[in-house]
Amino acid sequence: MYLLVEFLFILSISKIPVIFADSNSDTCDAFQQNCHSTSNQSPATKHNFTPGIRPEKWKYLLDLIYKANSTFEECSEICACYDNLIEEDLSPWKQNGINKQDILDSKNMGTHYQIINHVLYRESDCMFPFRCSGIEYFILKLIDKLPDMEFVVNTRDWPQVNKYNKPIPIFSFSKTSQYWDITYPAWSFWAGGPAISLYPTGLGRWDVQRKNINGTVEKWPWDKKKSTAFFRGSRTSSERDKLVLFSRKYPDMVDAQYTKNQAWKSDKDTLGAPPAKEVSLEDHCHYKYLFNFRGVAASFRLKHLFLCRSLVFHVGDEWIEFFYHRLQPWIHYIPVKNDLSNIDELLHFVMENDDIAQSIAERGFALIWNHLRMQDVVCYWEKLLLQYAKLLRYRPLKNVKLKVVKLPQK
Ligand SMILES: *[C@@H]1O[C@H](CO)[C@@H](O)[C@H](O)[C@H]1NC(C)=O
Ligand SMILES: *[C@@H]1O[C@H](CO)[C@@H](O)[C@H](O)[C@H]1NC(C)=O
Repeated sequence: MYLLVEFLFILSISKIPVIFADSNSDTCDAFQQNCHSTSNQSPATKHNFTPGIRPEKWKYLLDLIYKANSTFEECSEICACYDNLIEEDLSPWKQNGINKQDILDSKNMGTHYQIINHVLYRESDCMFPFRCSGIEYFILKLIDKLPDMEFVVNTRDWPQVNKYNKPIPIFSFSKTSQYWDITYPAWSFWAGGPAISLYPTGLGRWDVQRKNINGTVEKWPWDKKKSTAFFRGSRTSSERDKLVLFSRKYPDMVDAQYTKNQAWKSDKDTLGAPPAKEVSLEDHCHYKYLFNFRGVAASFRLKHLFLCRSLVFHVGDEWIEFFYHRLQPWIHYIPVKNDLSNIDELLHFVMENDDIAQSIAERGFALIWNHLRMQDVVCYWEKLLLQYAKLLRYRPLKNVKLKVVKLPQK
């Protein structure tokens, strides 16, 4: 999963006093919040939390939170929380449909699948077998409901069709708004995912992880968690360096350390310190604040962090998986700028406003727990494939080179 994607930062780690006049416009730009529209009205009467008793210095962040809260609508539907993305992803073919040439154009970007007469076929080679099985598990669950179709699935980390080019239908698990790729639920809901020594076959089996992580939460309710921000992971991107350096300077506030990855040769690869031990997802629940960084694309870990009922600090907002658009900044998590320039301020804010921190953590948990279940993943696959199939402008004929795919025998 993890390769090196380099972003260079000026590592200016200094304890900057929180000055709101300076930081306002930055945060507004980064998260496209309309910063000024709420400044004249006090939302205090509408909410449980009264800004009146809070220090004036937090007014700006409180306003962002109240504003997000006042326009937010919960997803209460079953199996429809993420539909918008399907529509958006398939919109380039709405008018003219998908024809044979489109499939030929996408073939060299991924693995070719066909569904003919409720049988799933795949080209014999799959670049990452675990990933293919994490995809096939869901399709095979649905196979009786699916009409004849064919499609190409990219199992690499990186999306394939930049919007500078014409749209080509290719399924990818993660992308930014710069790509045409059609988002599908990552294989790691069932199999694969980054293989670290604690999870040698990957993080896969979301249903199992949900149960296991939720099971430890009873021992680590909010009040028992350490008021420390936590991060463990390898140095896939230097985007993470700033937090690790911050942690070395303020260890009471942040515990962020690099672990070894396969490419590790010396302490230089862990930013001049010996590699830290990997920490299980369950043990992340000991901490109130959990940092999520992207890897090469979106990080599989994000959904797991919410299960701890800890407050998630989500860095950057470009890289998505199929369910991300339901997660809202300030409602379900704390948005952090890519350059981490506002972490000092954000950490002080949540430490001084524990009730708000806890309520955001609870809502993030509730969304993932109630609306990102295995059946929601299955349901997304079903809607995606049914709507995709409707766009095909030809009847796919069985390609003799493809092989039948069945669920592995237990
Ligand atoms: C947000 O709204 C919910 C429900 O409307 C309320 O329970 C919660 O206290 C609000 N949170 C904040 C931080 O205002
Ligand atoms: C999840 O955890 C909570 C308490 O932490 C517990 O009450 C609940 O039964 C758990 N649910 C499942 C399905 O494990």
